[in-house]
Amino acid sequence: MRGRIERIRTAWREMKALLREDVELQAQWPRTFGLIRADRPAWFTFLYLLFAVHMFPAVVLYRVQVFLYESGFPRLATLVSRLNSFLFDVTIGNHVRAGGGLLIAHGHVVLDGWTRIGRRVEINPFVTLGIGNSSRKPFELWGPEIGDDVNIGTGAKIVGRIKIGEGVKIGANAVVVSDIPAFHTAVGVPARAIPGGRRRETERWEPPKA
Ligand SMILES: CC(C)(COP(=O)(O)OP(=O)(O)OC[C@H]1O[C@@H](n2cnc3c(N)ncnc32)[C@H](O)[C@@H]1OP(=O)(O)O)[C@@H](O)C(=O)NCCC(=O)NCCS
Repeated sequence: MRGRIERIRTAWREMKALLREDVELQAQWPRTFGLIRADRPAWFTFLYLLFAVHMFPAVVLYRVQVFLYESGFPRLATLVSRLNSFLFDVTIGNHVRAGGGLLIAHGHVVLDGWTRIGRRVEINPFVTLGIGNSSRKPFELWGPEIGDDVNIGTGAKIVGRIKIGEGVKIGANAVVVSDIPAFHTAVGVPARAIPGGRRRETERWEPPKA
């Protein structure tokens, strides 16, 4: 019993820490537009994002799913995953682990397999991450390992036990079946890596002028 309670406490602390990072990242845009002041308390920012920012609730549901799974309630975790599919068309398997600052831009994604996603990763619509099923390799349940600060373009598929390095940009509709080195861009089918990755977060983003 004590072990179970400790497990739940640890999972709860982890969920809170990850959600804090998700909130910080997602709040950047509304703050840039002056929609929320930087001095607002964390709970206010969380509620604002929950009701105003597209797909933030899907990230929250995913965090709850992992909390339940890690706490020893796999069936409840699966139920929350189904709810996420039903509400947002965001289907995430129980074995996917994502670092803080996860951004699922417009939903319609499938993340499955034993997949690892780094911190501050942006996933655009119609993306699939999961197992490879290649007859050239033995069958395994591992999906890709995605580094920190990776931006995955709309429609991209990243499949199999491959590594996507830090700061990589994946082009729209790329099919990535082999490793992509850090700070490269992957485009095409099958994807080829070209030097030059994602711009650092420190670069200031300016809204377009009318
Ligand atoms: C890949 C991308 C990020 C551009 O990256 P970049 O490093 O600036 O690349 P460039 O524009 O310099 O193009 C480099 C080469 O890749 C090609 N390329 C670019 N995007 C491509 C794509 N999605 N598929 C295939 N080839 C592509 C270019 O034609 C160019 O080819 P060349 O070297 O033969 O001339 C961008 O084209 C893209 O696909 N972004 C995704 C956008 C997205 O998903 N937005 C969210 C919508 S909700």
